[in-house]
Amino acid sequence: MRTTVGIIGAGPAGLLLARLLHNAGIDSVVLESRDRAYVEHRQRAGILEQGTVDVLRAAGAGKRMDREGLPHDGIELRFDRRRHRVDFPALTGGRSVMVYAQTEVCKDLIALQLKEGGPLLFEAEALAVEGAETDRPTIRFRHEGREDVLECDYVVGCDGFWGVARKAIPASVSQTFERTYPFGWLGILADVPPSHDELIYARHDRGFALLSMRSPSVSRLYLQVPVDTDAESWSDERIWDELERRFETDDDWTLQRGPITQKSVTPMRSYVHEPMRHGRLFLAGDAAHIVPPTGAKGLNLAVGDVVTFVRALVHRRETGSAELLDAYSANCLRRVWQAERFSYDMTAMLHRDPDATPFDRRVQLARLDRISSCRAAETDLALGYTGFPLD
Ligand code: APR
Ligand code: PHB
Repeated sequence: MRTTVGIIGAGPAGLLLARLLHNAGIDSVVLESRDRAYVEHRQRAGILEQGTVDVLRAAGAGKRMDREGLPHDGIELRFDRRRHRVDFPALTGGRSVMVYAQTEVCKDLIALQLKEGGPLLFEAEALAVEGAETDRPTIRFRHEGREDVLECDYVVGCDGFWGVARKAIPASVSQTFERTYPFGWLGILADVPPSHDELIYARHDRGFALLSMRSPSVSRLYLQVPVDTDAESWSDERIWDELERRFETDDDWTLQRGPITQKSVTPMRSYVHEPMRHGRLFLAGDAAHIVPPTGAKGLNLAVGDVVTFVRALVHRRETGSAELLDAYSANCLRRVWQAERFSYDMTAMLHRDPDATPFDRRVQLARLDRISSCRAAETDLALGYTGFPLD
């Protein structure tokens, strides 16, 4: 088998990359180790930055998003029983975000790829990337019980944090930067209309809580929990009681309860692998970097990476120059580190760190007070949340 771009992984990074290449007239093959149902049902964050929305629309993948997604013009910060709304368009010159689940983005891109695009093989596990430093890199993979080799001009590792692509970069050139957090998020889906029309990020002495949504009738909520928590050890009633406490306010706001249909715990990690390119192997999305979910940046960063790669490849085809391919890692990393910083700041400002002193807690509250009383501080948050530009 031969192709121009061999793509490992059919998460949002790999799927969008295949779509953008197809639109640019460049052929690709996508290898995905899991089956289609698994990829389409994996629960992840659901906030699309303005730039991501624009890219999906321009790629012809925005129809259902525009019909069913929920445009959001702000978020609420909740702390000390107070409520503060951050108005995105007013602070950023008109930018906003869209609430549309990652599962839905994946479903839309898979349907398009199977209908119009090149091969997308499910249950095809990449075993290794070989020859990254040559003109003919290959992906060795297993599909339908057989081992096979995909010969490529370029390989893009979109295979997430646990993938194999990153391992093909020699340790002598790799640098990794990592931070783990002593807490995770217990996330639930509940069949109840969201209790607020925008997301609520709550800082509470008992820990962080987030109210989000999947649709006008389905709520998505999260609670900060210790890192080794078993989701099943939390009864539904205990979850609602704890959410209610962490969202408490001085006014008459109430949290609506409903049947919980799913529970799981997500660990939190910040991670960056440098460089994001070695020879003809490029890394994109979670394969190269992880952010804690507090800023909802994971999917948006993946989109930025694959857009940067396709621009560079098209530039190469049109001008013969490899300068943008050579600059891929540095160009992506500048944006990645801004998102790392933003996600780290949001996480630190809103979570209860088990080692924090009373002094640290006062500083957290002072940060929130600053954002709610100083337009410049609030603008910085709004700019970060709605996204760092792709150019
Ligand atoms: N061979 C083939 N496929 C693989 C392999 C392999 N050896 N290893 C992993 N994969 C697949 C996984 O099954 C998964 O479907 O690669 C895909 C990686 O997808 P994601 O983890 O969703 O990563 P990415 O596409 O970079 O998307 C980033 O994911 O973690 C979230 O919040 C993050 O929204 C962000 C998004
Ligand atoms: C979600 O809806 O799953 C979600 C929203 C915002 C975040 C993280 C997750 O910051």
